[in-house]
Amino acid sequence: MYMRKVLIAPSILSADFSRLGEEIKAVEAAGADWIHIDVMDGHFVPNITIGPVVVKSVRPVTKLPFDVHLMIKNPELYVEPFAKAGSDLITFHIEVEEDPVTIIKLIKYFKKKAGISIRPGTDVKAIEKILPMVDLVLVMTVEPGFAGQSFMRDCLLKVTELRKIFTGDIQVDGGLNDSTVAEAVKAGANVIVAGSSVFGTKDYARAIQQLRGGA
Ligand code: DX5
Ligand code: ZN
Repeated sequence: MYMRKVLIAPSILSADFSRLGEEIKAVEAAGADWIHIDVMDGHFVPNITIGPVVVKSVRPVTKLPFDVHLMIKNPELYVEPFAKAGSDLITFHIEVEEDPVTIIKLIKYFKKKAGISIRPGTDVKAIEKILPMVDLVLVMTVEPGFAGQSFMRDCLLKVTELRKIFTGDIQVDGGLNDSTVAEAVKAGANVIVAGSSVFGTKDYARAIQQLRGGA
């Protein structure tokens, strides 16, 4: 059976923001594949985090792809600023209830990879029609909004379902650690977002190795 390489994407939401550039360099040196950037607007989710200015200011510190997870209303208004700030992949949520096709086309217009995300309560059915247009599907394994929450195992049923019909990247996000990563990969996920299980430890290289080992 063909096994795709498992990629580890540390979420900087759990980094020390007073030393954000150094933290990004540290996870790059520790073997991270992508940098996951959680963008929250206080409307789509009850938290506020990072905007395009921060993305732009940390862009020069690493060569790793910036994987930008938009947990915001009206994502179409922010595709251009995040694209120009140096994002490589832009993922938005289907639950924003806007036309996903228009938003994906806009992301592609800026020559970025496009991802679509579903919250724990949203079925695969909601994104089925647009699967041929996206590079990645992000299956949330916690309710978006905060780092450090418990893994919602039931969401993996959607990963299994998706893997049968989608050949692109399947990302899982929320509660991933060395004891939950194996089941996520077994279900068919190949991009693992990890916030607290990397930045919450003292040894990032070891944490990333453990995630890979567990996978
Ligand atoms: C949650 C974010 C996640 C979060 C993951 O809304 O999308 O990326 O930072 O954090 P952990 O790995 O600690 O659950
Ligand atoms: Zn995220």
